[in-house]
Order: sequence, then structure tokens, then C-alpha cells
Amino acid sequence: MADLLFLGAGIDLRSERGVSCPGDLPPVSDAELVERAHIARAALGERAYILGHHYQRDEVIAFADVTGDSFKLAQAAAGRPESEFIIFCGVHFMAESADILTSDSQKVILPDLAAGCSMADMATHAQVEDAWDSLKALNVAEKTIPVTYMNSSAAIKAFTGRNGGTVCTSSNAKTALKWAFDGGEKVLFLPDQHLGRNTAVREMGFSLDDCAIFDPWKPQGGLTDAEITAAKMLLWKGHCSVHGRFTLASVNEIRDRIPDVNILVHPECPYEVAEAADYVGSTERIIKIIEGAPSGSSWAIGTELNLVKRLAHANPDKNIHFLDKSVCYCSTMNRIDLPHLVGAMEALVLGRVVNQITVDPITSKEARTALDRMLSLA
Ligand code: 13P
Ligand code: SF4
Repeated sequence: MADLLFLGAGIDLRSERGVSCPGDLPPVSDAELVERAHIARAALGERAYILGHHYQRDEVIAFADVTGDSFKLAQAAAGRPESEFIIFCGVHFMAESADILTSDSQKVILPDLAAGCSMADMATHAQVEDAWDSLKALNVAEKTIPVTYMNSSAAIKAFTGRNGGTVCTSSNAKTALKWAFDGGEKVLFLPDQHLGRNTAVREMGFSLDDCAIFDPWKPQGGLTDAEITAAKMLLWKGHCSVHGRFTLASVNEIRDRIPDVNILVHPECPYEVAEAADYVGSTERIIKIIEGAPSGSSWAIGTELNLVKRLAHANPDKNIHFLDKSVCYCSTMNRIDLPHLVGAMEALVLGRVVNQITVDPITSKEARTALDRMLSLA
């Protein structure tokens, strides 16, 4: 293994002992638990299919049948009709989407029901309906296509489906926005302002002035009639509490320290961070870029720490750094740990369905319209 890397904060991304970072996750201490996980997994066999998002802990990823970004996991759930149980190691909105995309006879399980997403919580259904009413009052709703990031509740996906819009993920946001602008003059982008702005401005030629922030806590989003009418992209005032913490200062600091470093960030990062980066992409793209990078190259990655650490371990011939010492794990992704996964699997083995995620039939039908649109886009 190449020399260990030490960042300014003392984060040793490759330590086998896993203790050099004060924020390191403790290793799975209970060998018996790992054994129980193997036994329960074997007992469930083909009846269960375990999906693992790239931000999951290593101890959980070890039991995933497929790992992926949000788009790949949505496809994987939709493509597995033969499994009675879809165990989703990710967060609540992903499990909801899996329930919508699977048949009524399949059951989607989220091992810890507290695994939510703070970004998804930043847009409630009532707020989005109020915003739409504001657009209707100005006669702009009929020219507006709603596009919601996958990181939103099923109710908001249903709103999008009902109103001629689509869902997108970080890997197909540009395709979804192109589709939306083919059908309308304006987009209401929910709930991540950064993904919306980064895609529209950095990838599609819109200007920052074409974007206006719609603040759901203010009347009419805090915008004047003229601002709403003029905006091409109405960006919901939401963000990821993990990626929103990466800063331009950390990009500049690491470029000063490691002149040949390549900066690779997720599009949930703020615009100025994405602008200063060399590459921007979904978790799946981040993995592909690192896998294809030349030996000896240096990288600073701005995304969730579980994934960055895994990449550092899997690519010892590359110098992989975490972009910002003040950013930590996604606390809700980390809620899915081995005890919860074992608990869910053992209950299923005993015939008890626990932590099932179900979306009501009407919401499910309307949200499916939006999700199917997304899946049918190239
Ligand atoms: P992707 O894996 O689709 O890039 O999404 C990142 C994310 O934040 C999921 O919550
Ligand atoms: Fe939500 Fe951000 Fe965590 Fe993804 S990383 S689940 S967007 S809080």
C-alpha cells in the first residue's frame, strides 16, 4: 500500500486501524453479529434483494447485492420483480421510490425508519402546492414544468407527475431539464437549489440571472411578480446539509497544498465549489472517474465521507483526499448499520415484516408517472 495520506485535519483515509480520525466510525466489533448477518442473508436467499447506496457504511455495503447512485438503484429496484423483499440500505425517499417502482406483492424494507434526508424535508407537499398556487395566480404555472430531484417525498413526486413534470437524479439532471424546456418555458426545480443551478448554468448555458430562489417560508417565495415572470429556473430554497458545507476556501486551500490535485465534487455542492472543481458528477460518476484515473494522480473529493474513504482504500495507487475537514458523514445514511440490517433480515426470516415502506395507491400512481418519465429519458 502507498504511503498513508494525512490531511490538515489529521484524517487518515486509508488507516487499517480506522482510528486516526476523531470522527471515524468504529469497526464492527461484534463478530457474532457478522455471522448472524451471513446466516440471515443465506436463509432469505433469492426472496430478498439488498440495495446499497454508495454512502452506506462498509459493514452494510458488504451485504449489498447491488450498489449504486440513486438512478441505478431505482432501476435495480424496478428490474427485480422476482424478489419478495427489497431491503433498501439508503434513505427514506429512496425506499419510497422503490415501493412505487415495484409490484404490490413486493415489500420494501428500510432497516432503520429514522433514515430520512434533511434535503427532502426542506420541501413539504403543502409548501409546494402553495408555491404552485402563486404561479397559477400569475398565469405562469401553465408555462412551467416541475422537475423534482429524486431526493424528495413521494407526495412531491406525485405533485410533479400530476403537473406534467418529471423526477431527476444527479446523473440525469441535464437530460431531465432539456426535456422540461422542450415542453415549457420555465422550470420549478425542487428541492435542491444547488443541483438545479449547477445543471442549468454550468451545463446548459443559462445565466445566474436566469435563476431565482423560491423561498417557501416567504409569501410568493420572497419574489416579486416580475422576478417570477422573468426567471427561467425557479430554484426551491433547499440544499443538502452535507454537500452544502463544502466551500471555495477548502478548494483553494487544497490546491495551494497539492498543486497537481484534481478536484472532484458532487453537484449538490454550492455553485462556486462546482465552478472551481475539475470534475462534477453523481456518486456513480465519481467512482468511475477515480477508477479510470492514472496511478499516482492526486484527487480531492467533495462528497460523503463513507464513499471517499472506500475509494481511498480501493485505489491505493492514487492519492485520495477528502475535500473539506469540517464536513462529516451523512448522519441519516449512517443510521443504517449492521445491527439494524441484521434485525430486519432476522425478522423477515421469522416471517415478520418490519420497517416496511408503503406509499398510498393514489400518490404512488401519480409519482410513478413522474418516475417512469425519468426512467424513459435517455
Ligand atoms: P447520487 O448517488 O444519485 O449521486 O445521490 C447522492 C445523494 O445525496 C443521495 O442522497
Ligand atoms: Fe440527504 Fe444529503 Fe444525506 Fe443525500 S447526503 S441523504 S441529500 S442529507
